[in-house]
Amino acid sequence: MQFAQITGWGKCIPPAVLSNADLETFMDTSDEWITSRTGIRERRICHCNFSDMAVVAARHALAAADLDPGELDLILVGSLTVDSLCPNTASIIQDALGARHAAAIDLNTACTGFLYGLHIGSNLIKAGAHSKILVIGGEYISHYMDWSRRDVAVLFGDACGAVVLEACQEETGLLAASIGCEADAKYAIQITNLGSSYSRLDKEFLYVGWNFDGQEVFRRAVKSMAQACQDVLEKTGLGVQDVDLVVPHQANKRILDALARRLDIPEEKVMVNVHKYGNTSAGTIPVALTEALEEQRIKPRDYVLMASFGAGLTWGAGLVKWGDGVVPLKTSDATLPPCDQTALEILEPHIRRYLAHRSA
Ligand code: UT7
Repeated sequence: MQFAQITGWGKCIPPAVLSNADLETFMDTSDEWITSRTGIRERRICHCNFSDMAVVAARHALAAADLDPGELDLILVGSLTVDSLCPNTASIIQDALGARHAAAIDLNTACTGFLYGLHIGSNLIKAGAHSKILVIGGEYISHYMDWSRRDVAVLFGDACGAVVLEACQEETGLLAASIGCEADAKYAIQITNLGSSYSRLDKEFLYVGWNFDGQEVFRRAVKSMAQACQDVLEKTGLGVQDVDLVVPHQANKRILDALARRLDIPEEKVMVNVHKYGNTSAGTIPVALTEALEEQRIKPRDYVLMASFGAGLTWGAGLVKWGDGVVPLKTSDATLPPCDQTALEILEPHIRRYLAHRSA
């Protein structure tokens, strides 16, 4: 039996910061409302393409694992804001990395994209089908944001993370996962006018809109993540007390607190960075995992519990037994192209367009 150890990790955080005070300049909102309802203080706005962020995160993950991109045999990209559908964006990333022996798959399950990718990649390695896989999760969600909707726009941000999975003989990596989908609530988060079911003749075709039932998602998120966590613990025969760190999807600090209470896990065992980046959808877990390692919150042989939920409504949890590697074997100087604009300057044309559309 072989296992799929996480041997490398990396992140890409775009430099432009959009603070709650910036949002107050064009939206009827307040820092007080946003921080008290969500815990979010600021988020990042991407100034280039999604694949640029993915390549930077991937280069850091490959360096941490000391792996040449040419050795990868599969790239899985969890995102709903990819550069392009054809060619698929995993192909663009494969080419940019020079990972010429890797198959390349885009995977859209919204916020759960990284966890789903980790589940699929780990099980392909366990089955012997692949041996070195790059799993990427991230989002360029600001590109599709409706900047006239205060109930949605304040929640999200852009970022990307990646991990390298390698076949090994020791029982490490993803020991068990539980994934699913509550499709009866699929329209609780919906991005409209994006996809072939929307008429090309509609004059508003280019206007991307959001349907969003925050309270419904909140309720279901806490319940489904807690249940999925309990399922994976049961599958592995471990208890909550064995978990060293929880790395959950970062959507809202109140959701993280409610999850910790339901699982009866102390707050200090829950990784939280939602205040810095907001909800980066498929990016939250690999970015939080990378920061947990940077902050030395993961030690060799630790048990790390991950949980996520998102549009679909997809949900999932996974229990990882960490290997020996908690320090990058090598480092990379990969970085995004320079950004000479503020977040508000980058967004200005989009904000103008959405506000005009709303008042028309
Ligand atoms: O990864 C999956 C993505 N989805 C999520 O993460 C969503 C999960 N849900 C949530 O995080 C919360 O439900 C929200 C943060 C979205 C909303 O918090 P809430 O406590 O459920 O607020 P609410 O929807 O009940 O809204 C309360 C009030 C409303 O005003 P009225 O009707 O009571 O007068 C809203 O219009 O807050 C108002 N409001 C705002 N006020 C200032 C909504 N958005 C804002 C805003 N600033 N940005």
